[in-house]
Amino acid sequence: MKVETAMAQSVIQDGKIFVGKSVRPEYLDLKLANRHGLITGATGTGKTVTLQVLAEGFSSAGVPVFAADIKGDLSGIAAVGEPKDFILKRNKEIGLDQYENKAYPTIFWDVFGEQGHPIRATVLDMGPLLLSRMLELNEVQEGVLNIAFRVAADEKLPLLDLKDLRALITNISERSKEIMQKYGNVASTSVGSIQRRLLVLEEQGADQFFGEPALDIQDFMRIAPDGRGVVNLLTADKLMEKPRLYSTFLLWMLTKLWQTLPEVGDREKPKLVFFFDEAHLLFTEAPKALLERIEQIARLIRSKGVGVYFITQSPLDVPDTVSRQLGNRVQHALRAFTPQEQRAVRTAAETFRKNPALDTEAVIKELKTGEALVSMLENKGEPSIVQRTMIRPPEGRIGPVSPEERAGVIEYSPYYGKYEEAVDRESAHEMLAKRTEAAAQQANTGGGWTDVIFGGGTAGAGGKRQPASFGEQVAKEFKRSVARSAGTMIKNIIVKSIFRR
Ligand SMILES: Nc1ncnc2c1ncn2[C@@H]1O[C@H](COP(=O)(O)OP(=O)(O)OP(=O)(O)O)[C@@H](O)[C@H]1O
Ligand SMILES: [Mg+2]
Repeated sequence: MKVETAMAQSVIQDGKIFVGKSVRPEYLDLKLANRHGLITGATGTGKTVTLQVLAEGFSSAGVPVFAADIKGDLSGIAAVGEPKDFILKRNKEIGLDQYENKAYPTIFWDVFGEQGHPIRATVLDMGPLLLSRMLELNEVQEGVLNIAFRVAADEKLPLLDLKDLRALITNISERSKEIMQKYGNVASTSVGSIQRRLLVLEEQGADQFFGEPALDIQDFMRIAPDGRGVVNLLTADKLMEKPRLYSTFLLWMLTKLWQTLPEVGDREKPKLVFFFDEAHLLFTEAPKALLERIEQIARLIRSKGVGVYFITQSPLDVPDTVSRQLGNRVQHALRAFTPQEQRAVRTAAETFRKNPALDTEAVIKELKTGEALVSMLENKGEPSIVQRTMIRPPEGRIGPVSPEERAGVIEYSPYYGKYEEAVDRESAHEMLAKRTEAAAQQANTGGGWTDVIFGGGTAGAGGKRQPASFGEQVAKEFKRSVARSAGTMIKNIIVKSIFRR
């Protein structure tokens, strides 16, 4: 077979991302990029670099990207790469003569607010299903959590942070008789376990994650002034130490995208591409309800213009119902020592559209670093014949940015100051405390004898303070936040003038 070598390759060609070279150039078609994808391979085989190559491709095409950066090595995408010898050699091999090292517009995020802008969500936003997963609750305990969310909705109690949830759980257990008639059983043992789990979650630092200002998911959809899509990187090294927290958190983001984005059908290119690294964590021991949710999101988020790419070591990590929906595939080398590993190799080989010229099963075991079996969707959405492909090198740096470089990117970010400081407005926890206080005062005045005389209800009688109206709260909050952002702006300007010198 004749090998095409003369062709010049840029990152984007005719609406396609140039991924690498087999017996022919291999592309990821932007039109079919919302049909999701899967990157698999053993450690050190080139998964992260492939992810970087795809992310650079999407960004170049004006598609914003979100990716979890597990080891920090993806952060190099924010820095200009170096044309080292092994890269130039690879470029020659694949006939890449339009290679230009450059940095990509990057925004760093970090749940803990240390290596990027903090990401927060309210407890209400997270919802009982994902929260149960985070807290590792059993079915009975999950039932209690569901009741808590329903009570909060019925009684208009804003569930913002973990304090609110704890106060509410205590409250419903104190009112368990009344609650049972309306909503169902609130067993005190379940309440005790939930409270303990909430404490653990707080100790893991998740209290920083719950609260406001909550992430505006539209902030992921940013396009840089030069037309490239912004690469949003979630620093996940610390988060990864708590696998449940990590995986539920990413799933929440997907849920949020799915719930808030409008239907757009198939487009020329996706609106956003979401890379889910260490995806096996999402699926291990996942209860049926959660698996169904994941399967459903994968199926429906496509028409919202979002492509989801899972990255994991073995293709067996992804359940069939989800795996079937992952059309664009890059399979790096796998080891095959144990029977389990051999099974993974066989499965990986079988999922590809066969290439008569290739012993897929054998090739998977002998692929070199940065080499992969590639099959992408083409034409009307059918998988291309699998090819042994040399993946192109990225244009950004391979490997992490330095802490100083990262700090620079964060300070210059358009979102600097928007999320940095937490806001603690009045919510369920304070409102429930007021209720308790009011009840105690009522009891102190001997059951409200004034009411007997004046015929008044509890409100206003006995000099009790009504909670501020929502409008007043908003006005107060607005003033506070204006003062705060002015403060941050001043800080910003000072910092920037230092940076420029
Ligand atoms: N397409 C490529 N072009 C140039 N070099 C590559 C490419 N792919 C991989 N490499 C080289 O191989 C090294 C390992 O690749 P990478 O970090 O992507 O592996 P990985 O599969 O993500 O490993 P891990 O599972 O440990 O995270 C890179 O640091 C780089 O030097
Ligand atoms: Mg990696």
